[in-house]
Amino acid sequence: MRKKIVAGNWKMNLNRAESIQLVTEISKKIKEIDFGKNRVVVAPVSVNLTSVVENKANDSRIEYASQNMHFADSGAYTGEISANMLKDINVGITLLGHSERREYFNEDDALLKQKVDQAMANEMEVIFCFGEKLEDRQADNHFSVVASQITNALFHLDSNNWKNIVLAYEPVWAIGTGMTASPEQAQEMHAFIRNLVKENYNNDLAQNVSILYGGSVKPTNAKEIFGKEDVDGGLIGGAALKAEMFAGIIEAMQ
Ligand code: PGA
Repeated sequence: MRKKIVAGNWKMNLNRAESIQLVTEISKKIKEIDFGKNRVVVAPVSVNLTSVVENKANDSRIEYASQNMHFADSGAYTGEISANMLKDINVGITLLGHSERREYFNEDDALLKQKVDQAMANEMEVIFCFGEKLEDRQADNHFSVVASQITNALFHLDSNNWKNIVLAYEPVWAIGTGMTASPEQAQEMHAFIRNLVKENYNNDLAQNVSILYGGSVKPTNAKEIFGKEDVDGGLIGGAALKAEMFAGIIEAMQ
């Protein structure tokens, strides 16, 4: 049975002390929440990952992710981080393909495919982000845009790689805008994605892959969105920066 996941993407926010404080506060707030086999992940800015991972006050159920990763083992790639470096600090998960990486750093499907391959070669888990822009939805192209993003970066993988793939559907028009896809819109897209995975692999694999929704998720709307059959939790931006809100969203993941 697939797991639900609530993952917090801290983006380029919080210095070292603030990052430690936030993970400590989250840990305190979620102590009493029994989320069973479901998962909680936080993705601090890379320079603070070690400090957050090693903070003694952390709830041991919290897992850690990088916001990005390079496709090469090492070398002349100024400013980048390798899979090995992440694993060395006990970070075994990375986000890839976030819309801000696609938009501001020109990451395209071909590059993301290389990054995915590097993660797989290193047994790292990937939270793979994708989603349509507003103009795609208005032109009724949202299904084909999402299908090509997934196909181009992921459908070359062997089925045994998929134990390390989590999908995160994030309509770009809903990220940081306060506009959320309705629970019905999210469900419609998630069911489409699961079916796409089924057609390219098999039903078993499709039923086991967690598909997260991202885009202005808050404690007030999380329960309804996560309640949809094919929505397996969320990737949270703004609300992940406030312990109270993040804990509220985790509580909605039952
Ligand atoms: P948001 O961001 O929750 O602030 O909309 C989501 C994301 O970028 O993952």
